[in-house]
Parts: sequence; structure tokens; C-alpha cells
Amino acid sequence: MAAPMKFDFLVIGSGVAGLHFALRVADRGRVAIVTKRRASESATNYAQGGIAAVMNSEDSFDAHVQDTLYAGAGLCDEDVVHFVIERGPRAIDDLLKWGVNFDRSEQAGADGLGYDLGREGGHSKRRILHHQDSTGREIENSLLQRVSAHPNIALYEDHSAVDLLTSHRAERNETNRCLGAYALDSATGEVDLFLANVTLLATGGAGKVYLYTSNPDIASGDGVAMAYRAGATIANMEFMQFHPTCLYHPNSKSFLISEAVRGEGGILRNREGEPFMRQAHEMGDLAPRDIVARAIDDELKRSGEDFVTLDITHQDGNFIRRRFPNIDAHCLRFGIDMTRDAIPVVPAAHYCCGGVRTDLNGETDIPNLFAAGEVTCTGLHGANRLASNSLLEALVFADAAATEAIQRLDDHPPLMKAPEWVHGEVGKSHEAVVITQNWDEIRRFMWNYVGIVRSNGRLARAHHRIDVLQEEINQYYWNFRITSPLLELRNLATVAELIIRSAEHRLESRGLHFNLDYPDKDDSNFCTDTLLSKSPVVS
Ligand code: FAD
Ligand code: SIN
Repeated sequence: MAAPMKFDFLVIGSGVAGLHFALRVADRGRVAIVTKRRASESATNYAQGGIAAVMNSEDSFDAHVQDTLYAGAGLCDEDVVHFVIERGPRAIDDLLKWGVNFDRSEQAGADGLGYDLGREGGHSKRRILHHQDSTGREIENSLLQRVSAHPNIALYEDHSAVDLLTSHRAERNETNRCLGAYALDSATGEVDLFLANVTLLATGGAGKVYLYTSNPDIASGDGVAMAYRAGATIANMEFMQFHPTCLYHPNSKSFLISEAVRGEGGILRNREGEPFMRQAHEMGDLAPRDIVARAIDDELKRSGEDFVTLDITHQDGNFIRRRFPNIDAHCLRFGIDMTRDAIPVVPAAHYCCGGVRTDLNGETDIPNLFAAGEVTCTGLHGANRLASNSLLEALVFADAAATEAIQRLDDHPPLMKAPEWVHGEVGKSHEAVVITQNWDEIRRFMWNYVGIVRSNGRLARAHHRIDVLQEEINQYYWNFRITSPLLELRNLATVAELIIRSAEHRLESRGLHFNLDYPDKDDSNFCTDTLLSKSPVVS
């Protein structure tokens, strides 16, 4: 192992949370960003609909708060909801400062701001700022440009964080704190140690734990798994959000059809061509996502069909092409003209509402380990995230974490001597098939047993399967030299285990967690977060 690299701030992940934090702290110290593929490869880069914020006088913080609480099904932390939503306009100002462009409407609003505000499920108002239907790409590119130009920020691509380094592990100290992280350099196969006063986990979500997902391949839950291994508290992992509308086509890798399409009048139809959402909820096609995804699941089970359709053909074709150029182009590649054809769609795993528990400063319960973005459970989303609240949450908590992290710069001098990574006697594995086989198996049983609709029996089967696989994976992990796919598999297995255990613990149905054996909400026993943690590693 090369000599440890020392920085003031270590950021793990280069999506909106990591980049925003890095830009906020970079004038105060040296920053390393480690990211496991190309820097732009992140969920952020694929975000379509936009970012929710109260931006005009026809909307109010109170309305946004109420919509968020309603979607969250009784489990949101109200203080956190106010904290995030009231900081929405400032978060938008920050993005504008980093050079992000949002679409303007042809007629400026009464207050002169004139943003073209979109609407999505669960929102009582139009409040989604967007850049056409590629809002995430606009944000990611703008922030990355700033980061690349900043002299205090060093960007390490193709570096997968393996594990956090804590003082429990390094110094066997009684009081724990985070000292940095080990990261595998995919180019050399070596593990580098990054030491820092403050570490920010910004590794995004875990959609790849399911067979069908809207998420990019990087979303393997690494941050949750690393934080869990280091002893941090993990909350609410049973609440995995399934987006109702991903394109159904045998040759298209999961591709999202934004909820903004329903916001502009798109209608979900069943095999008979009938709209079915009005029967399911008074908000119809714009009901919160858990309700729409379950209604589609019911339709598919009832009809035996493979998909339902999303129909926006009644809208003006020019408007559709102008408003959704990215979705239109993707559908056309598969022979679907959304101005004339209803789009075949199915639900897919989309957003992990659970994650590493943080406080209002974005700090975890391991001192000097901060977290922001989809890797966290801040209390904003409760049992179901309101659409387009996640980019907002990532910005607000990255900002709060940056403010606090700057205060910590002189708190703890970074450790001078740290334990080296030991590869031991292990050799290179020639059995890559073991990794792909286990990976496929986990994703398939998670989809079938721990998906949109669960039952005690299905969860018990999943629990049994994950126990067996964990044992195999652990053996494999310690017997061979680590690679990025092996790291992801180990993390994915940990996340699957945390989801299953959390789901088994919640003996009710609420928000995104629906169990056939307990179909009702049970406020007297389960109006609380599900918390999991293990003892920190001491040796
Ligand atoms: P990400 O943007 O996912 O970034 C995570 C980063 O961590 C990546 O750079 C990744 O490579 C890196 N990483 C992961 N593991 C490691 C490791 N072990 N070592 C080093 N680096 C690592 N939300 C909205 O609010 N509005 C939307 O319109 C919207 N649309 C969406 C559309 C799609 C298709 C998807 C998938 C999600 C959408 N979301 C949307 C959700 C939102 O995009 C994400 O929640 C948000 O972008 C997460 O940002 P993040 O910075 O936390 O993580
Ligand atoms: C979408 O555009 O439908 C995704 C929005 C979100 O996940 O918040």
C-alpha cells in the first residue's frame, strides 16, 4: 500500500450531494473526492423530473410541508421537513450560482421569476424546477465543471471506497470517530488510504439490489453497507420506493418515464385501454408513488399482462417533443412514438428512503462521519418520498454538513500512522461466475419476495436465502484479492439483509412497505423508525 494521502475533507461519491459539499468547503481546505467510476456516473446524472421548491406566491412552504407529510404516511420527522423545505429557495440559488439553468416559462409569473414549474405525484401545486427532462445531467455537468476547475479539489475516478477507517479500528480508542477510508484503485488493483479530518459519505442509493430498477449500476448501496460495518445506525431500510413508470421493452435497459409525463396529463391505462387510477385514489394518476405502483401491480396480477400503458397522445405533439426531448428520443429508438403511441410501462425499484441516520448537521452517530443524499435517512421522507424531494434533500444536507464540517477542521488532527490494508496471501480469483451468479440470485429473490407486495412467508424465504449467500460471499471475500464487482456484491448482500430484517420487523403496512399478512397501518405499535446497528469493529 502506498503512503496514506492526507486531506482536510474526504468526499466519497460525485453525485449532487458530494459535489455540492466539495464546492462549499473547498475554499477552507484540501478536498479529495473518490468516486468509483467516471465522475459523472451517478443517479444525479439521470434525474429527469426536477427539483421541488417553493418558488412563487401561488405556492407556500406550508403546502409543500403538508404534501411531504402526507406522502410520508406518518413517519416523517416534521422538524426535518420544515428544515429542508424552508431552505428550498436557497438551494435553488446555490444551483444557479454553480451555473445550473432551469427552464423558464414563456409568461413570467406574477412575481417575475417565471420558472416553468412542473407537477408530479403527491404535489398539490406546480413546484418542480426542471431543465427539460434532463435536470440531473444539467446539475451534474454544471457542478463537475466547477469542481474540475477548483485548485483545492482532487478528483479520484475509478476508486471504490472499501471501508471506513475509524479510531476504534485504528487506535482501539474508546471514543470512536471517523479518520477516512480505504479505496480500491481499479487501475492498479491497490488499496489506497485517504485520511481526513472530516469524511462525507455521498454514495447514493441501492436500486441494484432489485432485478428491475431505474438506477444506474453504481447504486449498490456501498455507503449504507460501509457505515453499518463501521457501527453507524441505519434506519428504515424497508421503505424502498418503486417508481410506477419505467419503459417496458425487452431491449431497453431500465429507462425511466418521468412522473412529469403524468404531470402534463399522461394517463395510465390497463389492457382494455381503461384508465384505472381514479378508482385507486382521489388524486388519480398523480397519487403518491406507493399507491400508483401498487395499483399497477394489482392490474398486472389481475390481467396477467406484462405491462400497463402511459398515454399522453391527447396532448399537442410539438409540446410533448419540446417538454420531453430525452424521453421522446429514447422511446423512438425502440419504435415508440410517444406523440402517437401509448408507452408500455412497469414499476421498478427507484429510491431508497432508508439509509444512514443523520442529524440536522448531516452527521452520523460516528463523529466526523457526515452523510448526505440518497445514502441517508434524515427523516424527510418517512415511509414514502414525495417526488423530486430528493435532489432538494441532498443539497440542503450537503450544505448543512459543509457548514458543520468547516467548524471541525481543527478539532482532531488526522492520525499520523494508520493501519495498512493487508491483502494477505490471497490470489486472484478466476471464478468471476460466482460473483455474477450470487448477484443475480440476490436481485431476483429480492424482486420476488421483498418487492412491492410482501408477506411473512416470502420474507422468511428471503431471509433464509440471504443467510446462505452471506456466508458464501464472506468466504469468497476473504479468500481472494478484492475487485470492484466483489466489493459491490458484498455490499449488495448487506443491504439486502438490512432491507429484509427491517421489513420483518414492521408488522403492519405503511407507505412503501406492504405486507399481505398485516394489510393495515398500526399507529399504536409501529409509528416509529426501524433502526439497525451493530457493534463497531474493534479489532
Ligand atoms: P448519486 O447521484 O447516486 O451519486 C453517488 C456517487 O457515489 C456516484 O458518483 C457513485 O459512483 C459514487 N459511489 C457509490 N459507491 C461508491 C464507492 N464505494 N466508492 C466511491 N464512490 C462511490 N430525484 C429528484 O429529486 N428529482 C428527479 O427528477 C429524480 N429523477 C430520478 C431519475 C432517475 C432515473 C433516478 C435513478 C433517480 C432520480 N431521482 C430524482 C433520485 C435522485 O436522482 C437521487 O436520489 C440523487 O441524485 C442522489 O444523489 P446522491 O449525490 O446522493 O447520489
Ligand atoms: C421522475 O422524473 O419521475 C423522477 C422524480 C423523482 O424520482 O423524484
